[in-house]
Amino acid sequence: MSVLSGKKVLLGVTAGIAAYKSAFLVRLLIKKGAEVKVVMTPSAKEFVTPLTLSTLSKNEVFSSFTNEEDENAQWNNHVELGLWADLFLVAPATANTMSKMSQGTSDNLLIATYLSAKCPVYFAPAMDLDMYKHPSTLETFQKLEDFGNIIIPAAHGELASGLVGKGRMAEPEDIVEFLEKDISEKLPLKGKKVLITAGPTYEPIDPVRFIGNHSSGKMGYAIAETAANLGAIVTLISGPTSLEINNANINKVNVTSASEMYEAVHKVYSETDIAILSAAVADYKPATIADQKIKKKEGSLTIQLEKTKDILASLGAEKKNQFLVGFALETENELENAKTKLQKKNLDLIVLNSLNDKGAGFGTDTNKVTFVTAHNKVIPFEVKSKQEVAMDIWQHIIQEINA
Ligand code: CTP
Repeated sequence: MSVLSGKKVLLGVTAGIAAYKSAFLVRLLIKKGAEVKVVMTPSAKEFVTPLTLSTLSKNEVFSSFTNEEDENAQWNNHVELGLWADLFLVAPATANTMSKMSQGTSDNLLIATYLSAKCPVYFAPAMDLDMYKHPSTLETFQKLEDFGNIIIPAAHGELASGLVGKGRMAEPEDIVEFLEKDISEKLPLKGKKVLITAGPTYEPIDPVRFIGNHSSGKMGYAIAETAANLGAIVTLISGPTSLEINNANINKVNVTSASEMYEAVHKVYSETDIAILSAAVADYKPATIADQKIKKKEGSLTIQLEKTKDILASLGAEKKNQFLVGFALETENELENAKTKLQKKNLDLIVLNSLNDKGAGFGTDTNKVTFVTAHNKVIPFEVKSKQEVAMDIWQHIIQEINA
């Protein structure tokens, strides 16, 4: 999956001959799963029509503060557009527009939008070779970069003037590749090794029976997927679930019992930066596993249980630089129990689920959690989808490890 998937991309089109290539750009961005809106300078409309770009982007195209041609003219809010975007790509970016942007001269909707945008802004310059190397252009590039913007270098080749040199806009494919690479390199969990446990464990009684629980694994899988999307290299150690996961950055290790999970976790823990243990591990297992199926007899049957090893506590005891997160599922004295677990198991964060809350717990697609931090700060959340909860967990961890 592309890092552009789900991203809100605002494409700014200025009046250069390469504007005809913006149609390809819109298509490529949409193919990557991005949502695209287009804002144009008024003169750019002479190079490519708003109709083409709105058809391809499936969104209205904006080029002026009011839709003059429309008798119900309404004000196009540049602030809203600027804040909507996750990234702003100006392609083609003419010398004129870039110069005005570097000076803060806001005489059209596109530039006003640029001045309001808080997201990363990329420029794909397009101009003739002598314009491209003119000292004033170089000064503009420098200024824009000093403001934190990113310049996608122009390509070498035949130019609209018939001259050959550097100045033609990078090809749409190369622009998209540049964006993907740049975004990937800046992902907040880039290079981090993450360990997640998920799902239930099954503790065998005999060859056909086991003690298990209702955990679906959905929460842990959402945490793993979110981590991978944020750039982490993930080991997902999963008990038996019906869930599939297909992500090049996730190495899934299937286990069945608590002791198998213990072994698998300890194999990778020393190399781990962040570990989140969301699995519902059995606390007890049958003391012996019958070789043959236990036959039905008169009277009752007693199965002797013994404790499993507490995986989370064992990681807390071994902890060096890892950020260690546990889950707590409680039915009473939730906060008190969670705080005790946090301290006893030497955790950096505990995610508390209360079975008393509607929308929380096993099998559901939603969860309601409260974070308890190492400094005993309590942060409650609303009922959210498990994907949103996963993002809340990661946002908190990213903030903590960068503090
Ligand atoms: N956990 C674990 N190994 C176990 C049991 C639990 O790693 N053998 C982890 C779970 O993955 C979870 C956390 O411990 O992150 C808390 O699990 P929970 O069942 O709520 O608490 P317990 O410590 O088992 O205590 P109790 O059952 O008494 O509440």
